[in-house]
Amino acid sequence: MRIEHVSALAACAPAAVAAAAGVVPVSITHARGSHPLRKRATTTYTQVITNNISYGGYYATVSVGTPAQSQQVVFDTGSSDTWFLASDSSACAAESSSSGGFGGGRGGRRRRQSSSTCLSTFDYSSSSTFKNLSKAFDIEYVDGSGVDGYYFTDTLSVAGASISTLEMGLAETSNSLTYGIMGVGFESDEAAATLYPNVIDKFYSEGLIGSRAFSLYLDDLQSSSGSILFGGIDEDKFTGDLIAVPIIKDSSVNNYTSFLVTLSSVASITSDGTVSTNYTTSAEAVVLDSGTTLTYLPETMATAIFDTFNATYSESAGYASVDCSLADESSLALQFQFGGSDGPAIKVPLSELVLQDGSGMSFGEGAGGAAESTCAFGVSMSSSTFLLGDTFLRSAYAVYDLDAKQVALAQSNFNSTSSSVVAITSGSSIPDVSSTATAVVASSSSGSTGDAKHNAGSLSMTVMPWLTLAAGAVAGVVVLVV
Ligand SMILES: *[C@@H]1O[C@H](CO)[C@@H](O)[C@H](O)[C@H]1NC(C)=O
Ligand SMILES: *[C@@H]1O[C@H](CO)[C@@H](O)[C@H](O)[C@H]1NC(C)=O
Ligand SMILES: *[C@@H]1O[C@H](CO)[C@@H](O)[C@H](O)[C@H]1NC(C)=O
Ligand SMILES: *[C@@H]1O[C@H](CO)[C@@H](O)[C@H](O)[C@H]1NC(C)=O
Ligand SMILES: *[C@@H]1O[C@H](CO)[C@@H](O)[C@H](O)[C@H]1NC(C)=O
Ligand SMILES: *[C@@H]1O[C@H](CO)[C@@H](O)[C@H](O)[C@H]1NC(C)=O
Repeated sequence: MRIEHVSALAACAPAAVAAAAGVVPVSITHARGSHPLRKRATTTYTQVITNNISYGGYYATVSVGTPAQSQQVVFDTGSSDTWFLASDSSACAAESSSSGGFGGGRGGRRRRQSSSTCLSTFDYSSSSTFKNLSKAFDIEYVDGSGVDGYYFTDTLSVAGASISTLEMGLAETSNSLTYGIMGVGFESDEAAATLYPNVIDKFYSEGLIGSRAFSLYLDDLQSSSGSILFGGIDEDKFTGDLIAVPIIKDSSVNNYTSFLVTLSSVASITSDGTVSTNYTTSAEAVVLDSGTTLTYLPETMATAIFDTFNATYSESAGYASVDCSLADESSLALQFQFGGSDGPAIKVPLSELVLQDGSGMSFGEGAGGAAESTCAFGVSMSSSTFLLGDTFLRSAYAVYDLDAKQVALAQSNFNSTSSSVVAITSGSSIPDVSSTATAVVASSSSGSTGDAKHNAGSLSMTVMPWLTLAAGAVAGVVVLVV
């Protein structure tokens, strides 16, 4: 999730050049259907995303330029720009850097002490289709990481589809990020001063897909890959009903800016579905953010959840630690419900909420004991911006429909090996959706990112280091565009 500044950015957060070698490129793509040109819009495109457990993120292999250059990007539902690191970026020079100490921010980020280059970089000078737009590109994410450079246009190949003249960012300097990001959110959340058609918009306007929509299947924590399906749903990747929930507008701009939905209930349930403890204090607006490793809930809810699972929260680490054996506890699961009592309810097994050292979490001092039997807990806390990251998203099959302004959710069918794809056609609703949840108004303190704007300057130093880091970096005046 990115932050939008409303005042001049002073100094940046301490620079830390993460070091990471290349991920194993897995870019099996298969366009489904071979319809004649006029019916192209009923086609869907699948992009495999690699779950890099040790780096905590989901990477897609895409290619940019002419001739095509392969790139690893983190797939992010919490932002809207696609960008790459320039091969001559200072961030990618082979030099050593010191390590930071927190995990759970942007997926994949992990600081290490070593000399290395970036995961992948774009050599724009060898692309014949590269065009410099000479338009400033400056993005910062809620964990304080960010990049600077300019926008350019070039050809992008993703999921076997080729998009020409796509506007993208080229990073010349980077704070902590050593890989590019593909943001697939609403155009209105772009970092650019003047909005432009992003990947999802171009997929649609070039007639590749019938609706601005995609489905995300992350599969379980142990699986090495998941997939993004542009323009359709895969009926074999979920169980039970697919139920839609309305996306909420950001009241500060009276427009849709992110995948913000109402979380109406969080409870622990036993294997027969009986509620064990209900942690809900009020309905809260939450962002479905694949670019975030952990799930950030309001303090009161998170604290009550920590109590149930004997989790010890560490302010300095920004997450709670639990006994690793909690992963084997199958008599309880956390259930997240959206919208009214008819809304989708997703069960997250404890095995999905216990992260070993190495699963994107850099354990260190203050992680609550750091004993060998200590693991990171998938739920953490926040004072103002609530994010459902990968620890929640893996358990849900989610269809993001930017045209219908809905997200449809169902229980994920882990380890599904078959596929049954249905395209989302123009003007139609998401296929297989059994119902749409009754709208529930989120508590006033969470319903708008405008509130976050006013609160940002006074973020408590006791929560979410990546948020306070971000707030500190911009002298406290930020708008959180969640
Ligand atoms: C994860 O990324 C690291 C750093 O790029 C790489 O060394 C490792 O092989 C990757 N692991 C997987 C499972 O892709
Ligand atoms: C692109 O334009 C920006 C802004 O005008 C400039 O700083 C940058 O050096 C240019 N890059 C290339 C490769 O021309
Ligand atoms: C509202 O958001 C949509 C989708 O991102 C965007 O296309 C449109 O320009 C925005 N409208 C305004 C007034 O900003
Ligand atoms: C899915 O497969 C992985 C191995 O890739 C295994 O560890 C995991 O337990 C399986 N999950 C389920 C729910 O069967
Ligand atoms: C938990 O409590 C909230 C608020 O009272 C309620 O709306 C929700 O239905 C409850 N959840 C469950 C699973 O019973
Ligand atoms: C938490 O600790 C208490 C007291 O030691 C124990 O009874 C309980 O079973 C623990 N809960 C879990 C989920 O491990």
